[in-house]
Amino acid sequence: MIIAIDGPAGAGKSTIARSLARRLGATYIDTGAMYRAVALWALRAGIPLDDMHKLEQLARAAHIEFAGDVIRLNGEDVTAEIRRPEVTDAASKVSIVPGVRRAMRAEQRRIGAENSVVMEGRDIGTVVFPQAQVKIYLDADPHVRAGRRAKETGAAVDRVEREIAERDTRDRSRREAPLIQAPDAEYIDSTGLTPDQVEEAILKIIRKRTSN
Ligand code: DC
Repeated sequence: MIIAIDGPAGAGKSTIARSLARRLGATYIDTGAMYRAVALWALRAGIPLDDMHKLEQLARAAHIEFAGDVIRLNGEDVTAEIRRPEVTDAASKVSIVPGVRRAMRAEQRRIGAENSVVMEGRDIGTVVFPQAQVKIYLDADPHVRAGRRAKETGAAVDRVEREIAERDTRDRSRREAPLIQAPDAEYIDSTGLTPDQVEEAILKIIRKRTSN
């Protein structure tokens, strides 16, 4: 069983996906964390973020593991470091590179083939698992999304809103696997909803799709 949750930054994907996975006894996979791990390695190694060849090599060599909420890159716990603002920005840039996406996609498909997963990202329902039984496109008002991220990180809302807008534009306009709603995904606007209400809405969709 594959549950794909896509959408822009701050829509509430991680909160919901983690909680749903726990409730359903599935594995939670944050694919953004994988792009962040590759970006972190590239920054540390001083690889220019437009060097497609080197970035692809690095993505293929990266050993990324999930252990509960801990993310390891080549054996090192990078859970906190991948949330730094410069890594966030770099993740959106390295994710443009087709070879990087290929490497991540292969790993995501391998995990999904072996486990029931709740996988969140930008292209899960469109490209990684177009055959997923349940697809959700989770969205929210941009100002509200920025407010949520600002609360998590302690940064100023205005700045976060600008950064999110820039990243959304890049994620939506790249040539390969851009952020778009899959035609068969259910659209949920989380703007005025609590996480529990979003989860309830998704559970209803899961019941509907899996009983057909
Ligand atoms: O979900 P996130 O904000 O942690 O993701 C960080 C970046 O990674 C995001 O700006 C674009 C990229 N990404 C992607 O291209 N495809 C995915 N499936 C997930 C994330």
